[in-house]
Amino acid sequence: MPRRPQRRVAPATVRRQRFAVAFDYPVYFTRGVFDPVNPVLVRAIDRLRERRRHRVLVYLDAGLVAATPGLARRVASYFQRHADRLELAAPPAVVPGGEQAKNGWSQVRAVMSAIGDRRLCRQSVVVAAGGGSVLDMVGFATALVHRGLRLVRLPSTVLAQNDAGVGVKNGMNERETKNYIGAFAPPFAVVNDFEFLRTLADRDWVGGVAEAFKVALIKDARFFEFLCRRAEALRARDFAAMARTVRRCAELHLEHIRTSGDPFEFGSARPLDFGHWAAHKLEVLSGYALGHGQAVAIGMALDSYAAWRRRLLSRGDLERFVAALQAAGLPVWSPLLERRDARGRLEVLNGLEDFREHLGGRLTIVLPHGIGARREVHAVDAAVVKEAMAFLRERGGGTL
Ligand SMILES: NC(=O)c1ccc[n+]([C@@H]2O[C@H](COP(=O)([O-])OP(=O)(O)OC[C@H]3O[C@@H](n4cnc5c(N)ncnc54)[C@H](O)[C@@H]3O)[C@@H](O)[C@H]2O)c1
Ligand SMILES: [Zn+2]
Repeated sequence: MPRRPQRRVAPATVRRQRFAVAFDYPVYFTRGVFDPVNPVLVRAIDRLRERRRHRVLVYLDAGLVAATPGLARRVASYFQRHADRLELAAPPAVVPGGEQAKNGWSQVRAVMSAIGDRRLCRQSVVVAAGGGSVLDMVGFATALVHRGLRLVRLPSTVLAQNDAGVGVKNGMNERETKNYIGAFAPPFAVVNDFEFLRTLADRDWVGGVAEAFKVALIKDARFFEFLCRRAEALRARDFAAMARTVRRCAELHLEHIRTSGDPFEFGSARPLDFGHWAAHKLEVLSGYALGHGQAVAIGMALDSYAAWRRRLLSRGDLERFVAALQAAGLPVWSPLLERRDARGRLEVLNGLEDFREHLGGRLTIVLPHGIGARREVHAVDAAVVKEAMAFLRERGGGTL
């Protein structure tokens, strides 16, 4: 056989493109953000000291508005009082609260249109006051228009103040998948006003405590002890205990984002997603009737059992953790755990593949390793999940 002449490929050339962008945003803790004499919001919006009037669109969570009579009026008065620095581009707009805010595109489109209608520029400001759902939705819309306007978040639930509102992510739900669509877009500033928390329904008051247990168990043993000790006080709406819980949890989140080396989650491991693979699936299965924090509590209880079976957690610590979640008023079991799909497979286990896809790469689950530390694992044993369900049903089945 005659040899075919070898075909030559032109040599490729490459220029390495590499640069870093520093992100920098303040997170304020205050009380009474719309009190006319409270300077924090003006400071947050004018933090670059541009010494000009900032054009601002304000979005308010409908649940927050319903619970706080006169809120829209107070916002308008605040802007009037600070008219030398701030200008409302339109009267404050009220958007639906809760998970419905981020289900599908309709709310996102409405915010994007309003930004265009009011002719906001990339240096204008969008202020969003609300729970994690509203912040995720308004934040996402704000990140898209002109490739990103300045977003100032005013988180109004425990979970939003200690987790969702202080980080770098936003998003919405599509294809029956939580946060299927979204972007990494750090805010311009965050203002946590503890006074907002007073009007929360019990469910949303304790929901965020689950995220506090999450970071404490995998990162901060002292904080974990505090939460166990004060679990009942938290459930009974002890304000001082909650303020401390929110602040410490927010600090731990900020520290993680700042120091983990992977703020935009390019790797497959996401320590702050401890307990979340099952949680996200349970939320979807419940049609979002189950709150995010409640779902996370169940997910963490499930994974802590797996940690015990892998000898990463002692039996005593497992029992203590489950009891503390319950003392705080959080569930550790749901009948949804036992729901099966058409092939007879536990639905919750189908959440594993969604979770892996969302993170990318190899399946990576974070488990507690003792109190205050963690370990990554790459498989979930279905038999252990079933065992965990039986264990948790016995502990928590009656509480729902
Ligand atoms: N972007 C992130 O990094 C991140 C992190 C964690 C969670 N999240 C998302 O956050 C969402 C959950 O947020 P959430 O727990 O804040 O719940 P939520 O936003 O769904 O709000 C819960 C309810 O509280 C109402 N509400 C808000 N503030 C109130 C107040 N001060 N007084 C009375 N009612 C008030 C809302 O209208 C709603 O009905 C989920 O969609 C979750 O995926 C995002
Ligand atoms: Zn969460």
